[in-house]
Amino acid sequence: MTIGIDKIGFATSQYVLKLEELAQARGQKIEKYTTGLMLDALSITPITEDIVTLAASAAQTILTDDDKAAIDMVIVATESGIDQSKAASVYVHQLLGIQPFARSVEMKEACYAGTAGLNYAKLHVEKNPDRKALVIASDIAKYGIASAGEATQGAGAVAMLVTSNPRIATFSDDNVAQTRDIYDFWRPNYSTTPFVDGIYSTKQYLDSLKTTWAEYQKRHQANLEDFAAFCFHLPYPKLALKGLKKIMPKGLDESFKSHLTNHFEASIQYSRKVGNIYTGSLYLGLLSLLENSQTLQAGDKIGLFSYGSGAVSEIFSLYLVDGFKEMLRSDRAADLEKRSALSIGAYEKLFYEEANLTEEGNAKFDTYDTGTFALEHIQNHQRIYVRKEHD
Ligand code: CAA
Repeated sequence: MTIGIDKIGFATSQYVLKLEELAQARGQKIEKYTTGLMLDALSITPITEDIVTLAASAAQTILTDDDKAAIDMVIVATESGIDQSKAASVYVHQLLGIQPFARSVEMKEACYAGTAGLNYAKLHVEKNPDRKALVIASDIAKYGIASAGEATQGAGAVAMLVTSNPRIATFSDDNVAQTRDIYDFWRPNYSTTPFVDGIYSTKQYLDSLKTTWAEYQKRHQANLEDFAAFCFHLPYPKLALKGLKKIMPKGLDESFKSHLTNHFEASIQYSRKVGNIYTGSLYLGLLSLLENSQTLQAGDKIGLFSYGSGAVSEIFSLYLVDGFKEMLRSDRAADLEKRSALSIGAYEKLFYEEANLTEEGNAKFDTYDTGTFALEHIQNHQRIYVRKEHD
């Protein structure tokens, strides 16, 4: 029996900030973003779209009624949670109509937790091969107006259905993880935006990659040539490109090098237009690779590098299975073109709007475009979500 990813869904916001707009407002050359960071645009959420609505919308695109009857574990990985106590997955479980006898939890370790979620899901399905586990990585990356990280914000969720005999890719049992206690990026409870030691965080990302890869190679006698493609956590694609170059050994065959580089390009297509979605960004890279590569085939091995500040990193691999292309979409880029472009003023107002709570803990919001689900209002400090009628 094999275990792996059977379906992948994605949701992002209905609004976008084009980086030309940001460059002009912040007095930067556009090339700093398009070449220096390899980013073109960022998804921007209104207050009525949060990690719960994004997560539910991403999963909604892939689940059938049979899936909802078979799912007995719902994991939401996030570092932009909406409650310190109640798990986002509890809301998502209800919004999706998943059968009641399910375990629902939220997992956290910066951008890494989606990978931990997949590991937990794998163990669960190993013991219960007729059941399915839903793992959703959902985040809104918000650094603050005119902050160093502003051009690397974003919002989105990637939902993955983990099953036995999956139709996209199987997990290999080769995970190698590393933990190091550092302060490169963190968000204390009292702050709505993170504290970031930007350059230090990039060094830690690259050093975690180098050392985890060395350990992975040692444990598995692995070479880069074993892989058809490598996907990376994508805080911004340029950092991942530096990572790819770091693990390319000297003397690597030029045609293999260009093959890996082409696959890298395929893996960043969506992130270039969405920005950083923290926990989901590695998996958005995987989805982008699978949907945009013309040359991947069943049996190909794909390496993945997961990194969460703080920091935990992990390298593992997947094997593509026969017919994987049938489980994917070829028109996803067109959806991104449908987002409404925001002026700089509209972005600052929309992205940074806070709930104006009454003494009783009630708040109403203006109507904004969202995906299938929306946060309608807050009543007695309870978040009330709705499924929109037209969906
Ligand atoms: N044309 C072309 N390139 C240009 C340029 C121009 N006109 N102007 C600048 N650049 C290049 C720079 O040379 C630089 O490239 P290199 O790194 O290859 O030298 C790049 O654009 C960025 O320029 P700066 O370093 O001057 O950019 P910055 O001051 O805006 O800071 C950053 C970059 C520190 C990454 C900042 O965006 C940041 O703090 N981001 C948030 C933290 C982050 O993403 N860290 C990543 C690791 S942590 C992690 O992975 C977890 C996570 O998701 C947050």
